[in-house]
Amino acid sequence: MFKWASLFGFKSQDVEKTITSPNGRNKCQVFLRNGQLSYKVVRDDKIIVNFSELGFNLCGESPFGKGLKLIRYVPRHHEETIELSWGEDHFIQNCYNEMAFYFAETKEPKRIFTMRFRVFDNAIAFRYEIPPQPKFQRLSVADELTEFNINLNSIVFKIPAYQPDRYEYNYEKCQVFDLKHSVHTPLTMKTPNGYFLSLHEAALYNYGSMTIKLNNKNKLQSDITPLSDGTRAHLNLPFETPWRLIMVADSAIELTTNRTMLCLNEPPRQDFSWVKTLKFIGIWWAMYVGEYTWAPGERHGASTVHAKEYIDAAVRLGISGLLIEGWNDGWEGDWLENGVNNSFTKAAPDFNLEEVAEYAKNSNIEIVGHHETVGFVDNYEKQLDAAYSYYALNGIHYVKTGYAGSQIMINGRREYHHSQLGVMHYQKTVEVAARNHICLDIHEPIKGTGIERTWPNLLSREGARGQEYEGGAISPSHACYLPYTRLLAGGMDYTNGIFDIMNSVKHISTTLTRQIAYFVTIYSGMAMAADRPYIYEERFMDVFQFIRDVPTNFERTIPLAGEIGEYYVVARQARDTGEWFVGGVTDENPRRINITLDFLNDGVYLAEIYTDSDDAHYRDNPFGHVITKKHVSKNESLDIFMASGGGFAIRLLPSQSNGA
Ligand code: NOJ
Ligand code: CA
Repeated sequence: MFKWASLFGFKSQDVEKTITSPNGRNKCQVFLRNGQLSYKVVRDDKIIVNFSELGFNLCGESPFGKGLKLIRYVPRHHEETIELSWGEDHFIQNCYNEMAFYFAETKEPKRIFTMRFRVFDNAIAFRYEIPPQPKFQRLSVADELTEFNINLNSIVFKIPAYQPDRYEYNYEKCQVFDLKHSVHTPLTMKTPNGYFLSLHEAALYNYGSMTIKLNNKNKLQSDITPLSDGTRAHLNLPFETPWRLIMVADSAIELTTNRTMLCLNEPPRQDFSWVKTLKFIGIWWAMYVGEYTWAPGERHGASTVHAKEYIDAAVRLGISGLLIEGWNDGWEGDWLENGVNNSFTKAAPDFNLEEVAEYAKNSNIEIVGHHETVGFVDNYEKQLDAAYSYYALNGIHYVKTGYAGSQIMINGRREYHHSQLGVMHYQKTVEVAARNHICLDIHEPIKGTGIERTWPNLLSREGARGQEYEGGAISPSHACYLPYTRLLAGGMDYTNGIFDIMNSVKHISTTLTRQIAYFVTIYSGMAMAADRPYIYEERFMDVFQFIRDVPTNFERTIPLAGEIGEYYVVARQARDTGEWFVGGVTDENPRRINITLDFLNDGVYLAEIYTDSDDAHYRDNPFGHVITKKHVSKNESLDIFMASGGGFAIRLLPSQSNGA
């Protein structure tokens, strides 16, 4: 064990150390100049992050990160293949060169801390590690001063932070110097020297979530979501901050499969072999188009009768799960206002959970339970154990949660969802759910930071503007931004598969084919086919077939083509069958793309191709589609058309002899 105290006699001196990525392209230089810590990142000898300072302002203490001397540094090389139980890839590579820097202040209070840097071929990550020490066991962070000094002319693709709809905004682009307000991460950008970066964080626990602002030195800087008391976080030592993560790629499309966030999280510490990904329908969209209500009454959606009808429909449709929203006590009147007393164990008068659960079990359908907290975390936490064991007792293995409202109520105070207290609450739900062998799909969540590697029961989140905003507030470019931005933070429940596109209440701004493309372009460990079953059964079973066929767990993912906010094409191989699925989406611009099938194994595949018809258009001809079948092999390519606001989906089945 390294002994700090023995080295306290060291003199302060300037330091410059370089950590190089395994392939040699990325270099992170760490500097100590006049006792101030900073770093810089270059790729192929071109600067991507210029001199950036590190440190904290603390409440009632002198700032942290100045007046330092380097005590010791420890380099390390790491190479590992990580196996994931579910997700976009079965195996991911965790290879980096690390350097841990042990610093001490030269003057009283002579605090000590470690800065750990990891340099990957496609990312740079670092975190602060603060051990317990004399006179300093707790601290309150007034400000984290981590800078990311990115070229001011870089173009950023951003959504605003600290706004009433949390994370649910449309993406906009601007240059870094034009950033007026704090923005959420992953903050994706294109630098003037042609690289694509995304600033994000990994392993967010017990700390406020990082947003990014332009500081008064014109550098991007961490802006940690504050608590209502004005601090950013209260820490007990030892404490490790979340990883600060800079993803790096040569192209936008390459960025989309950056898995460093997962690599920076720990493996699971308990058995999660019970976790299974799921496709589900729901008593849900009927409420959005006014056919049903969440609240009890004549048109109550979540009645025992409707639940059984939907279970029967799920069986007919070949979908294994059913979400039931509005089953519990608390939806009467203005549910957004009244949710303070919601019960998570008491059902509405016309809903019998035991009966529905028994019926689902006999039909081999998984129920997805629902907890809408309306942000009243105090009320929810009081019931947490009872609520999850109630579902567990009834054989329910999946729960969707929700935190509607601009802020959450914790300890009687309004806090940001993304604050330290919010982060701790969401973590508690994941752990209580895990104890009850329940998987989660969190709506209005905190952003993903890869903790599903440690807690695989966290199968999905919303955490972006989803299809509930359709009917005017989503343009076709939105889903062309997501793969390059929000989806770098993990899977998303976008509530795919709305087929009733020209509904007068909610006109959808996509073509029909694009709705099935989403099952490939937007990964989710819990994937919803969100429309009402009768819409599928009465009108579109030919297209619905793709939703039946597409899996929710993939062996590998290969991004094929795309540009941020314009289009995205991706191929994914199913875990067990060797089948491949390809999906693509485009913005308002129709597009013809050529897909080389060289990702296939040898042999012949049957391609089932669902495309927009030549005259399709998301506004006035969204249903125009063509389904073709043909045999293909890896030496061939497919010429695919995407209409304005459209998309496509392809299933490729290996013939028996392929051995694929
Ligand atoms: C917002 C969620 O995103 C949505 O899916 C849910 O239906 C409503 N809250 C009501 O719980
Ligand atoms: Ca939402």
